[in-house]
Amino acid sequence: MHLQGRQHTKRTLPLSEGTLSTVTSISTNASQRKKVTTLTFRQKKERGVAITMLTAYDYPTALAMDKAGIDCILVGDSLGMVVLGYENTLPVTMEEMLHHARAVSRGAKNALLVGDMPFMSYQVSTEDAVRNAGRFLQQGGMDAVKLEGGRERADAVRAIVGTGIPVMGHLGLTPQSVHQLGGFRAQGKTASAAKRLLEDAKILEDAGAFSLVLESVPARLAETISKQISIPTIGIGAGTGCDGQVLVTHDLLGLFDRFTPKFVKQYANFHEEMNKAFAEYIEDVETKRFPAIEHTVEMTDDEWNEFQRLTLNVERILPRKN
Ligand code: KIV
Repeated sequence: MHLQGRQHTKRTLPLSEGTLSTVTSISTNASQRKKVTTLTFRQKKERGVAITMLTAYDYPTALAMDKAGIDCILVGDSLGMVVLGYENTLPVTMEEMLHHARAVSRGAKNALLVGDMPFMSYQVSTEDAVRNAGRFLQQGGMDAVKLEGGRERADAVRAIVGTGIPVMGHLGLTPQSVHQLGGFRAQGKTASAAKRLLEDAKILEDAGAFSLVLESVPARLAETISKQISIPTIGIGAGTGCDGQVLVTHDLLGLFDRFTPKFVKQYANFHEEMNKAFAEYIEDVETKRFPAIEHTVEMTDDEWNEFQRLTLNVERILPRKN
């Protein structure tokens, strides 16, 4: 799997000033890594080093990702679909998000942790948006929040950033607007839609967002946006011109059985692996191959003999009733 087995490496990277700098990157030893912050994001963009981001919803996945050296973990509201089995992300609540955010924060110590604000947690009022964003930091152990939308969310972004909480924007295919968009479909494919997306990106940057997810938009539009704003863009189905990449981990691992978007590269087929393991277990139990001797607790012969002597006595004193 690509995310595993990465070594402590040194790379020579161009800086924005045109000089060269040796950057020590990615370590399998989490304790050697420094905590990734929004400042790291900015520096990576300046240096032209790709930002890596994945979703996680639980402790073991977050731990494995953090050890592999991921820059950023998003507790995405995609958890509604890939973990909780909802049809889309709309039913996901703040309580569900916080429950999973806490698990992720216990597993990952170095990655920047971003909590995805669920549908209706920031759209009704700026006060709601600020209060719920705060809950991600106070109760969920997150470092930042993400919310969907462009100009119509500028006030919410400004207010949240104003309280000291970093905000990641999300433009293009915004799954919480699935019904308005007419399905999970690519965005920004016409000249006017592309122009609006570029404007929205600049508005979010002005509102104080530290980064921007661009989902399912034409690669050349994503590249143009990435060049025209100073904050890093994180692409998903948006080509290589973005400053970083994100995928839904269950897509990458082949754990989501319903569909795999065209832009996903599947690095493993865990659904098939799980299926195989479960079928083997069932067969082992049915044929009594499991548990084997090495999975069994033993006691000494002396204790066993004593146990038999004691229980024989018990039987003699209290004869078994039929
Ligand atoms: O919820 C999520 O996982 C996301 C990513 C697709 C960026 O928003």
